[in-house]
Amino acid sequence: MKVLIIMGSPQKGNTFRACEEFREQVQRECAAEFEYIWLKDMDMRPCRGCYVCFQHGEGKCPHQDDIGSIVRKMDEADGVVFASPVYSNNISGLLKTFIDRLSYIGHRPRFHGKKAFLIATTGMFGTRSVLKNLSFVTGGMWGFDVVGSVGVVTKKGEMPRDRVEHNSRLLAKAARKYARALALNKARRPTFIEVITFYWARGVISQMEEVSPVDYRYWKEKGWLSKETRYCTPAPVNPLYLAIGKAFESIQRNKARKEMGTSPAGVASSCQ
Ligand SMILES: Cc1cc2nc3c(=O)[nH]c(=O)nc-3n(C[C@H](O)[C@H](O)[C@H](O)COP(=O)(O)O)c2cc1C
Repeated sequence: MKVLIIMGSPQKGNTFRACEEFREQVQRECAAEFEYIWLKDMDMRPCRGCYVCFQHGEGKCPHQDDIGSIVRKMDEADGVVFASPVYSNNISGLLKTFIDRLSYIGHRPRFHGKKAFLIATTGMFGTRSVLKNLSFVTGGMWGFDVVGSVGVVTKKGEMPRDRVEHNSRLLAKAARKYARALALNKARRPTFIEVITFYWARGVISQMEEVSPVDYRYWKEKGWLSKETRYCTPAPVNPLYLAIGKAFESIQRNKARKEMGTSPAGVASSCQ
């Protein structure tokens, strides 16, 4: 089993230490190989907001840097850990730049079946909102099965022993949960939000053949535009979620049809 750690911290500090404790515990429980992707060391230029990846494919992105090879590593991995310090009550700038560059995956989700775990460290506050947002992006938009998350409160310099022990307990518990999920490798039923997001997106993408042919082709080739397809994975879907999802799809489809006369940028921004 291969697990990548996408490291959003610019230093070998608290977030790295938390990840190391987490990694050691996971490896005690299961045979997983870990690799760090240090975003700080990558050639990763900021998104220019040109919409080229959405409309013409990520291969046409004006930046030809390390992002493509990181995505290939994520494709090959069984699991990905996303780790970030809380900076100004948010994820680090490094991780945000990475996420922005992968925005097109929100249109063409590709990580279904892969297990993700989220780690945030903070001086005082902010882990809850950071982890919630990361979960939405990696799970809701990119397709990962987000197994769980852990936030730890740290301190610059030496930490009191009870704080160290408390964090170790939190990280060990999180790691055991992740190791179990990696070992089981079981498909999970999609949540309400995931089902709604799928149908909402399908309503839009189904109308995008001309405006956004890359997204349209991707969904078509996956079979996701077919009426018989209930969800983007074969996992069983709660019938109530399905009914609400279909209502969302219909509303979005009609809305997208009306908007097709607008400029490409207008259409693209309306469906993100
Ligand atoms: C630039 C910067 C901004 C920070 N912003 C916050 C913040 O908004 N809230 C908070 O509780 N701690 C904040 N902290 C503290 C860090 O979240 C905390 O020390 C974290 O564990 C650092 O991880 P690192 O060693 O991997 O960089 C900040 C630290 C830095 C350097």
